[in-house]
Amino acid sequence: MQYYEQIVANRHSCRNFAKKPVGEDLLYKLLTYYDDRTRNLTEHIKTFIKFFDGSVCEKLGDYVGYNGHCIKAPAYMVVYSEEKGRYLENAGFIAEALTLKMTELGLAACWQTVNNAEAVKEVLGKETDMVVACVVAFGYRDKKSKEKPVEKISLDDLTFGTKYGQDIDPTRFYRELEDGLRAMAHSQSFLNLQPYRVIVDTDQIVLVGIPDNVTKEADRHLNYGIAMFNFISVVWATRDTTPKWSFAPVTDRDLGLPADVKYVAKCKL
Ligand SMILES: Cc1cc2nc3c(=O)[nH]c(=O)nc-3n(C[C@H](O)[C@H](O)[C@H](O)COP(=O)(O)O)c2cc1C
Repeated sequence: MQYYEQIVANRHSCRNFAKKPVGEDLLYKLLTYYDDRTRNLTEHIKTFIKFFDGSVCEKLGDYVGYNGHCIKAPAYMVVYSEEKGRYLENAGFIAEALTLKMTELGLAACWQTVNNAEAVKEVLGKETDMVVACVVAFGYRDKKSKEKPVEKISLDDLTFGTKYGQDIDPTRFYRELEDGLRAMAHSQSFLNLQPYRVIVDTDQIVLVGIPDNVTKEADRHLNYGIAMFNFISVVWATRDTTPKWSFAPVTDRDLGLPADVKYVAKCKL
């Protein structure tokens, strides 16, 4: 509850950063958090993260950001990844863990859509076989900024009971599950479109993607990873044993998915 309210619900994107640089001590904390994290979405995909200072904004040019506009920030985090199946969900999961850690450390962040991953890799000059999976601008929020949190999908609109399209019985919710689902509903997404829904059964939840002609393929997968981390982060904060997301198909029940709705992953409760 506390983690949901203080961290997840408190996070909102920042597009007006103060000029103050992010200290080495905080970068070290973020890096240590990345290195120490034992809870991965998938075990078999290698990744690494790298921080860059604000001077790379110019180099990034129109290779990142809505309409080719990179948000000016004192720091940028780039997640590099092996290019394997589900690598974008995995990178989204990792970068969201770090974005929430930034919130904990008093920093603010804004994801930057990657318009040209190869060009980003080239201008950042990192020699690696891995690809650029995502870019997050971060730093301190300008205290004079009037930026307001945006509206998010309601829990009611996000969730279905047992089958796609079915109303959910609200007595099915218990505190931890409800907070986890609220955390999913609060997730960042490309243009705040939140093109996914969650089917809630007694023993598992299922994330599905809904049709959306606007979100680019890569951002769609990053969106999923973010939502999956948000759910898990709240449950982790209250339990020793933690559920895990799985991409294995659901074969033991009918989810009632319309043809244009895509199964993403399931998580045993
Ligand atoms: C994959 C992805 C790409 C995004 N790209 C951009 C971007 O290029 N520029 C920007 O200002 N915000 C970007 N955002 C931030 C979203 O617009 C923001 O998360 C959404 O509007 C919801 O607001 P919130 O983060 O305050 O909850 C991106 C978010 C995601 C998840």
